[in-house]
Amino acid sequence: MVGRSVVTLDDLSTTEILDLLDKAHYIDGHRRQVAHTCDGRVLATLFYEPSTRTRLSFETAMLRLGGKVIGFAGAQLSSVTKGESISDTLKTVSNYVDVVAIRHPKEGAALVARQAASVPVINAGDGGHMHPTQTLADLATLRSRFGRITDLTIGLCGDLTFGRTVHSLIEALCRFGNVRFVLISPDELACPQYVLDRIEATPTCSYVETRDLAGAIGGLDVLYMTRVQKERFFNEDDYLRLRDTYILDEAKMALAKPDMAVLHPLPRVNEIAVEVDDDPRAAYFEQVRNGMLMRMALESSVVGDTLPGYESNEPRKVRV
Ligand code: CP
Repeated sequence: MVGRSVVTLDDLSTTEILDLLDKAHYIDGHRRQVAHTCDGRVLATLFYEPSTRTRLSFETAMLRLGGKVIGFAGAQLSSVTKGESISDTLKTVSNYVDVVAIRHPKEGAALVARQAASVPVINAGDGGHMHPTQTLADLATLRSRFGRITDLTIGLCGDLTFGRTVHSLIEALCRFGNVRFVLISPDELACPQYVLDRIEATPTCSYVETRDLAGAIGGLDVLYMTRVQKERFFNEDDYLRLRDTYILDEAKMALAKPDMAVLHPLPRVNEIAVEVDDDPRAAYFEQVRNGMLMRMALESSVVGDTLPGYESNEPRKVRV
C-alpha cells in the first residue's frame, strides 16, 4: 500500500482491506505503542466542502500517530478563490506533505487530484460518487457487530441516488460477496444503474428495491440509514417533499430483529429519531470511532510507516 492513492476502494485489494481492518483493531488496543508511528509526517486536508467527522478524524488520526496536519476547511481562504485549479493546488501541496486527504463537491475531483499529486491522495468524498474511508469505517463496524462482513441482509434506506457512502459500501461488499441488498428509497432517489449493475455482476449478491421501510425492516441484519442531502438537489421543493420520507423511530425498531445493527454515516437530520440512540442496536457512533481508527490504519500504510509490534500475517481473529 506504500505510496498508493485511494480514490475508490478498487484501489485496494480485498486482502489489503482486511489487513486495514486488522490494523485498526490492533491500533485500538495499542494506542501508546503506535503514538509515534508517523513522527515527522505531515498530512494535508483539502476540504472544498463542509465536514465534521471526516476532516477531524483524518486529522486526529495523523496527530494520534505522531504526525502533523495542515490544510483548509472551506476553500474560500485559499487561492482557489483566485481561480487556481485542483491540479495546480495538488502539485503545490505535494511539495509540503506526505499524504493528502481531499473532499470536493464534484465527482471525479479526487481522481484529478491523484493524477496531479506526487504523494498519496485519499478521497474524502467526491460529490455523489464515492467515500471510501467512510466505507472502511462501515466495514469495521459490521465486523465488530457480527464478526463478519459477508452473509448479511443489508437494507440501505433514504437517498440512494446521491448517497456516495451507499455507492462505496455496495461496491466494497460486492467484492467480498454473499450480501443481500434491500434498497429502500422513494422512486426519485433510487440507486443509480451503475451501482445496480455492480450487484448484478456479482453472482453471490442480489438486490430488491422497495419504498416500504416498515415492510422490509423485519428481514434485515443491518439497516444503513442515510440523509436526504439538501446540497445535492437543484430544486428546493423536491428536497422539502422528500426529506422526511423515512424516519426511523422506536415504533419501527420494534419491528426489527433484536440484533439488527443501525448504521448511518452521519450527519443525521430527522431520519433517525434521537430516541433510537439509546437502543443497543444503534451503531452509528461506533462508526464514528471506527472511522478514526481506520484512517489511522490507512494513513500509516500509504506513507509506509510500520505499526510497532503489528504482524500483518498474524492469524485473523475474526472471520471475513
Ligand atoms: N460521514 C461523513 O462524511 O461526515 P462529515 O460530512 O461530517 O465528514
